Amino acid sequence: MINEIKKIKEEMGEELFILAHHYQTDDIVALADAVGDSLKLAQTAKLNKRAKYIVFCGVHFMAETADILTEDSQRVLLPEADAGCPMADMADRASAEKCMTLLSEEFGENKILPITYVNSKAEVKAFCGKYGGTVVTSGNADRILKWGLGENKIVLFLPDQNLGRNTAYDLGVKLEEMALYDQIRGKLCYSCKKEDVKIVLWGGYCHVHHFIMDETFDLARRTYPDYEIILHPECRYDIAERADGKGSTEYLINRVKNAPAGSKFIVGTEKNLVDRLIKNNPDKDIKILDSKSICRNMNKITAENLFETLEDIKAGNFSKQVTVDKETAAQAVKALDRMLSLS
Ligand code: 13P
Ligand code: SF4
Repeated sequence: MINEIKKIKEEMGEELFILAHHYQTDDIVALADAVGDSLKLAQTAKLNKRAKYIVFCGVHFMAETADILTEDSQRVLLPEADAGCPMADMADRASAEKCMTLLSEEFGENKILPITYVNSKAEVKAFCGKYGGTVVTSGNADRILKWGLGENKIVLFLPDQNLGRNTAYDLGVKLEEMALYDQIRGKLCYSCKKEDVKIVLWGGYCHVHHFIMDETFDLARRTYPDYEIILHPECRYDIAERADGKGSTEYLINRVKNAPAGSKFIVGTEKNLVDRLIKNNPDKDIKILDSKSICRNMNKITAENLFETLEDIKAGNFSKQVTVDKETAAQAVKALDRMLSLS
């Protein structure tokens, strides 16, 4: 099947462009034309004007983002329709609007600047575009949140409370100056004076990273005191702030790659990526922080459904195409373009 995929790639040439996120399995990564973190993949999709078909080996919000950023004539396809992101599903437009109404009552009209993590539905990006906000990825969250916090408004950060908290804290916002919005109950919770709230964190999280527990981190530190522990900022603050480094998947890869031979790392992120780090850096000692860090959705993309997608394209069947409606895309692109210009 892999040989068949290679053959189709050769036949189609520049018409076909396969993108893969770092959490994909090795066989998919080897077949991709570009591999990256969410920022790099969004930029790469936008730059490619030649491909008629962009096959996104990742999850649904990534394919949506690519569809928004590419030309109308380009089709974006996701090999498995069911490859979603549970964190992205923790926020939708209706609940974001409800939150905006509550925050405007609490803090005043036009005082809220919504910023969403790219791991969100297109409709949430559109919500941010409508209110003058933007998008961040884990690769640019510091730069963009810094901009947002300087806009003399209260930032509403969706949907990942962990990336929001970790990044805001590193930018000097105190934990007491952060409010939490419980999107399930529609309740806002903060302990400081109203005037001191700088950021409201939507209560979403990525289960792959959120459930790496303190005990796991502490055990790794005690057992391997001479290892550097590096992790993804979707991890909870309790461990992220004690790590020796945190950043996007691209950051984690480069941190290991650029370290001298003999370096020792414990890495807290998705297992496919850590397994590849181990394989690609035989001169270093690398361990996974929590071997249960598996994203079942990323793993739904297989050589089988990639092959099926390419066969479908050849047959003129685009049932795996991901499209964002024009109105949503028009608002979302404002938020995404603002991100790309600030990156
Ligand atoms: P990055 O590759 O942008 O760090 O994103 C990680 C992730 O969770 C993607 O789903
Ligand atoms: Fe979503 Fe987490 Fe999987 Fe990324 S790793 S796709 S954020 S569930």
